[in-house]
Amino acid sequence: MAIINSRTREKGKIIIDYDKCTSCGLCVSVCPDKSLEITDGRLHESQNAVFGCIACGHCMAVCPHDAIKIEGRELSGNDLFTLPPSGNNASYENLYSLLSSRRSIRHFKDNEVDDEIIKKILDAASTAPMGIPPSDVQVVVLKGESKVREFSVDFAEFLKKNKFVYSMLGTKLMRPFVGKEVSELFSSFLNTLVSSYIANMDKGVNKILYDAPLAMSFQSTLYTDPADAYIPATYAMIAAESLGIGSCMIGGVHPFIKKGAKKFKKKYGLMESFSGGIIVIFGYPKYKYRRGVRRSFKEVKVLS
Ligand SMILES: Cc1cc2nc3c(=O)[nH]c(=O)nc-3n(C[C@H](O)[C@H](O)[C@H](O)COP(=O)(O)O)c2cc1C
Repeated sequence: MAIINSRTREKGKIIIDYDKCTSCGLCVSVCPDKSLEITDGRLHESQNAVFGCIACGHCMAVCPHDAIKIEGRELSGNDLFTLPPSGNNASYENLYSLLSSRRSIRHFKDNEVDDEIIKKILDAASTAPMGIPPSDVQVVVLKGESKVREFSVDFAEFLKKNKFVYSMLGTKLMRPFVGKEVSELFSSFLNTLVSSYIANMDKGVNKILYDAPLAMSFQSTLYTDPADAYIPATYAMIAAESLGIGSCMIGGVHPFIKKGAKKFKKKYGLMESFSGGIIVIFGYPKYKYRRGVRRSFKEVKVLS
């Protein structure tokens, strides 16, 4: 049986061109599923596949003779493209320079982000790895400051209607059902966050999406790992940085709309249920940062 998600219920169909195939075995080596094997000097679909072809495309990307194609699971031979020259790749120094210069940007110039840049950000984000192909991530693009503001105002209104849930009394009553940690997360952080979102929006100050000129909301279906949404969102941030666009991840919306919020999600075309979700806001930075800020992990353990 194939691995199912919202886009596919089938396994990939393996098409071998025996006029071109030399049985070199490269495709067999790279297949993560053991979907291919060579017996009696001839390549064919294996009977020992773990899940059946997941359509990762590694076999057709590695084949030196263009002898294998995968059809199905949203993939086809037409999805192969010529790689950019390797000399075009960013060096570690270039990449580190970009990554270490990035700051979360919450203040933006008035300039719009044009369609060409939006496309470039989405193209780069779509190269992100996913748990199992094809990607089951939905992206909703909020284009222009007024759309971003409308979304933020509606979200604040939604929170207002559910204010009791985020009150100290609501949190106390919820504790036996949600447990100590979630209850403490609410009392120490989320309740105050909600009050500040609402109070600021009442004053016309958008502390939710900061009136950015562009926002993208990434959410992964219930079939997928929540990280499937976060990884392309991260790629989008890095791509934006390379284009001179500042960005900031906004994790403060999806946890509140995971359950309920049907009307809100419907208005913005957001999937009704998701395993993980995150928003990234984008725009031209208003302020220039002059120094970097060193970061560290809680711990790095090297085992050998
Ligand atoms: C998962 C995640 C969620 C975040 N959510 C928010 C948010 O809701 N609002 C916000 O202003 N910043 C948010 N941030 C940005 C962080 O606050 C920011 O990355 C952190 O302060 C470090 O700053 P730097 O990115 O400039 O290094 C989030 C970042 C991550 C990774």
